[in-house]
Amino acid sequence: MAFDIDMIKKVYAGMDDKVKAARSLLNRPLTLTEKILYSHLADDFPSKPYERGKDYVNFSPDRVAMQDATAQMALLQFMQAGKDKVAVPSTVHADHLIQAKIGAEDDLKTAQVTNKEVYDFLSSVCNKYGLGFWKPGAGIIHQVVLENYAFPGGMMIGTDSHTPNAGGLGMIAIGVGGADAVDVMAGMPWELKFPKLIGVKLTGKLNGWTAPKDIILKVAGLLTVKGGTGYILEYFGEGARSLSATGKGTIGNMGAEIGATTSTFGYDEAMERYLRATNRDDVADAANQIKELLTGDPETYEHPEKYFDQVIEINLSELEPHINGPFTPDRATPISKMREEAQKNGWPTKVEVGLIGSCTNSSYEDISRAASIAKQALEKGLKVKSEFTVTPGSEQVRYTIERDGFIDLFEKIGGKVFANACGPCIGMWARENADKQEKNTIVHSFNRNFAKRADGNPNTHAFVASPEVVTAIAISGELGFNPLTDTLINDKGEEVKLDPPTGFELPPKGFDVKENGYQEPAKDGSKVEVVVKPDSERLQLLTPFEPWDGKNIMGAKLLIKAEGKCTTDHISMAGPWLRYRGHLDNISNNLLIGAVNAFNHETNNVKNQLTGEYGKVPDVQRAYKAKGIPTVVVGDHNYGEGSSREHAAMEPRHLGVKVILVKSFARIHETNLKKQGMLALTFQNENDYDKILEDDTFNFIDLEQFSPNKPVTIEVVHADGSKDIIKALHSYNEQQIAWYKAGSALNLIAQKNA
Ligand code: F3S
Repeated sequence: MAFDIDMIKKVYAGMDDKVKAARSLLNRPLTLTEKILYSHLADDFPSKPYERGKDYVNFSPDRVAMQDATAQMALLQFMQAGKDKVAVPSTVHADHLIQAKIGAEDDLKTAQVTNKEVYDFLSSVCNKYGLGFWKPGAGIIHQVVLENYAFPGGMMIGTDSHTPNAGGLGMIAIGVGGADAVDVMAGMPWELKFPKLIGVKLTGKLNGWTAPKDIILKVAGLLTVKGGTGYILEYFGEGARSLSATGKGTIGNMGAEIGATTSTFGYDEAMERYLRATNRDDVADAANQIKELLTGDPETYEHPEKYFDQVIEINLSELEPHINGPFTPDRATPISKMREEAQKNGWPTKVEVGLIGSCTNSSYEDISRAASIAKQALEKGLKVKSEFTVTPGSEQVRYTIERDGFIDLFEKIGGKVFANACGPCIGMWARENADKQEKNTIVHSFNRNFAKRADGNPNTHAFVASPEVVTAIAISGELGFNPLTDTLINDKGEEVKLDPPTGFELPPKGFDVKENGYQEPAKDGSKVEVVVKPDSERLQLLTPFEPWDGKNIMGAKLLIKAEGKCTTDHISMAGPWLRYRGHLDNISNNLLIGAVNAFNHETNNVKNQLTGEYGKVPDVQRAYKAKGIPTVVVGDHNYGEGSSREHAAMEPRHLGVKVILVKSFARIHETNLKKQGMLALTFQNENDYDKILEDDTFNFIDLEQFSPNKPVTIEVVHADGSKDIIKALHSYNEQQIAWYKAGSALNLIAQKNA
């Protein structure tokens, strides 16, 4: 990975000056987060400190990582930017599309057939444009990134919410939408609201049954699923230093469950050990030379209340293992209270399946601790009462744990090993009888446990715990089982007790792997052909959107006036539609099907003004498109909240909607609309929303003078011929107006590269 160490050395070389400049700008000691953020600014150094939670700042991330579901559209877009190569080191990981059913080998073979065209596309596009491609079976994005790419003090974006897993190696790693990845790969800056900071001081030391997972389960209970929104969590203290890098990764990973922007830890010996164990002596040596830049200034940890917006303190010596759930990861129950809680709430206490692994908890340490429980079970005459599955996070981990006999132990107690992929964690689990929707309980070491997430059954009560606790519970078969105090009856009818788990932070014999599944891109990609079948259902090459003709939009029809919540899920639904993530025309058949029509209060039923009949939103829109008639979507407050899914902006654009006019936008969606060359407007007077009627036609009569801060005048013509003149505001700056004129931000980049 010479490519990486050169990049890392470059980042480190500039860091000292930038940190000094930031310290003098802020005129105080700096937290680690501030050091990393201020040393990754894309623009000139500011003349005054950025205001946390307020200022939008342009950053230059060092890396991009993408998983296969989100990479498809991101790369299809990137192909339009007219670049020969990605601007920063980037990787794609084939992990989300493998269904867990029979076991690793068979499931991988099936995935290679069913997803062949997607894999061929990703492999060829990576090869052409200089991205590393981790083939199906190579592992889960976050584990592979931690093993190969994460580095202390770095900044990374990834098209997956659990990208903050790389915080385990002291990175600022943030989950984003595909459009952001495209920007960074195309060499554009990436914008983020300067985050607020929560300091988490860890004192004491984990012991017995308690694991790093329990720290984040506890934090989730304290902060709830919304409590981290807009914040970066920075962990520090002797307790933090006592955790392995992978344990820190688990904590960073699940920071997503409290809505945190990301989580991070200062560089320490555990990180150094992990870097060396994963063949990165060069990175460890480079980090050792600038150690003090890779952690917060001591004063910020001594008096955290002065430097963080919020401070939490947890004593690891007293922390009890937790089990969180069901249905939400912040419902935290200490293990000693679970039996009582389950009874009180009527949760099924028989555990059907225990699942360990996933991107969150499949390190060597996790697996070795769980294996120590399996070993005891064998020695003490116990087997699993529940089904038990193991999902390794990478081929390197899988190969090493097989070599060290752990897989054998799991199989001997009745466990089954799935492919190194997301599988049950993302609902890619062909669980038998899940369609019967019976009430049941599963316990896993994954991160999310919302209804239906694992198996599609809304009545599956999914609980989250550490791998060692999940293993113990699977052996007992009972949700309320507390291995700290309870005993079990073995095959001889004797009463036995499990001892606390033991394990290894890192493999004593080192990591090993035969075929890691990595595809290095071609040195010269110019001759590489990108493979997309013209009749493919799942992939479609994009055609650049038309540039603006410079004229007013006249005679636009109302497609839908949406009332109430209209999130990106309402605009572009997930579920079965995920299949079409790489095919803009096919996925556009879900356009706004979840939005509620303000006139009949129904979803996916709007009036076609050309025929007077009602139809599905995408069908009606296609009818307008066929006649070349522009359309307008009207919406309520916070239109487009939810995710940064770019499909929600691309679909209306593709189908010929010209304007989205709402009371207010969720900011990311507004930006996505601008990037795709749409006109995103807000009512100057919110009450004008009420003036919009079902048969309205819109004329944007001064759009020809489109310029920053100048409201747009709209003539709303009603069916009876009467008119309302209303004003709409916009937030386009010069640059964004240039996107609009070019037809999209990518068109503009491509023009510049031509
Ligand atoms: Fe995959 Fe689940 Fe992690 S979907 S990336 S294993 S959170």
